[in-house]
Amino acid sequence: MKLQRLSLVNFRNYKEAHIQFFEGVHVIYGENGSGKTSILEAIHYLALTKSFRTTNDKNLILNTEKMFRIQGEFSSGQGTAIQSAIGYSPANGKSLTVNGQKAQKFSDYIGEIPLVLLHPADLTLSQGGPAQRRRFLDILLSQSSALYLHSLIQYNRSLRQRNQLLSEAREGKCDPQLLKSWEENLIAHGTELIRKRQEATARLSESVKQHYRGLSNSEDKVKIIYRCNVETQSNQSLAEAYHRLFEQSRAKEVEYGTTLPGPHRDDLLFLLSGKPLKDYASQGEHKTFIIALKLAEFQHLQQQRLQAPILLFDDIFGELDANRIQQMLQQLGHIGQVFITTTSRNFFDKMGPASISDLPIHYYRVEDGGVAATEA
Ligand SMILES: Nc1ncnc2c1ncn2[C@@H]1O[C@H](COP(=O)(O)OP(=O)(O)OP(=O)(O)O)[C@@H](O)[C@H]1O
Ligand SMILES: [Mg+2]
Repeated sequence: MKLQRLSLVNFRNYKEAHIQFFEGVHVIYGENGSGKTSILEAIHYLALTKSFRTTNDKNLILNTEKMFRIQGEFSSGQGTAIQSAIGYSPANGKSLTVNGQKAQKFSDYIGEIPLVLLHPADLTLSQGGPAQRRRFLDILLSQSSALYLHSLIQYNRSLRQRNQLLSEAREGKCDPQLLKSWEENLIAHGTELIRKRQEATARLSESVKQHYRGLSNSEDKVKIIYRCNVETQSNQSLAEAYHRLFEQSRAKEVEYGTTLPGPHRDDLLFLLSGKPLKDYASQGEHKTFIIALKLAEFQHLQQQRLQAPILLFDDIFGELDANRIQQMLQQLGHIGQVFITTTSRNFFDKMGPASISDLPIHYYRVEDGGVAATEA
């Protein structure tokens, strides 16, 4: 997938900007606070209809304005053109137009523009809490399977409803039949989520192992395991185990006012030489693992969507060593379109033409909410 043109109106610190992009690597450079990440954020928003920095879209509107609009012209690997536009205002909400048609359901559109993001917060993926790792899987799977996204939306809706009922139950007012009917919904969608996550984790684990070996030149083996709190006994189906768990935990759930079993409490376990990365790995090993994981995410989406995802790297190169960056750009810059932000353009100049020969690199200078393509 390639983004050819991007237009921003009243987005973050941009009053208006129109930018053209090409094949290969795009280095977006400029001082702190100039607006580099905002460009990646706009591309991310166009692909996933969400920001990676805020859940409140009001924050994205240029101060003093009342709405923002982002437009992009993409071309798919098969040469099909996709024109997307998203507008938002607090008064009218969010609206998405794809090829001139207003989209009724955003979920049908997610995945059309496959995208992989690596930003500083990802560097804590292997050390932080489980919610961050579930989010990683959810974003990956929502882009690769419309069915997964549908199940996820339904699951989260049922979860909110059931939690509401449970908190009412604490005060003695709750219809047990209603509680059970939400349980049935949670089990139906939850088993779908668990199966797809297990399947994806097994594939990711193999792929991460290969990438890690390539990046580290070591024999250390990495592995990913999906840790599911719905455990099946022999001859028991996942749905049966799930039902049973609900029966066992209901009293506790009423006490806590929240749903206990289910994929909203699952986790991914990352292992290095059989030991949890969290307790065992060095800083460098964590970083190598995260890059391997992102390469695996790229590969997974490429296989599922039959085209290379767009890659966004937000300001992470100060964190990683130059060799790894070169290796990664060599691998990815030829396959997909890459966008990189950095405060130091020198960093890329220093890598030298020999190391990234025949890789097309385009430079963009960002200054106070304006973007200009500059000479290589
Ligand atoms: N809604 C908004 N309206 C106007 N300005 C905003 C808005 N939201 C953020 N900003 C400002 O826009 C500027 C650009 O932010 P951005 O994160 O894109 O910068 P950056 O170039 O990535 O900086 P850094 O190198 O520090 O990461 C910042 O000064 C930020 O405070
Ligand atoms: Mg930034």
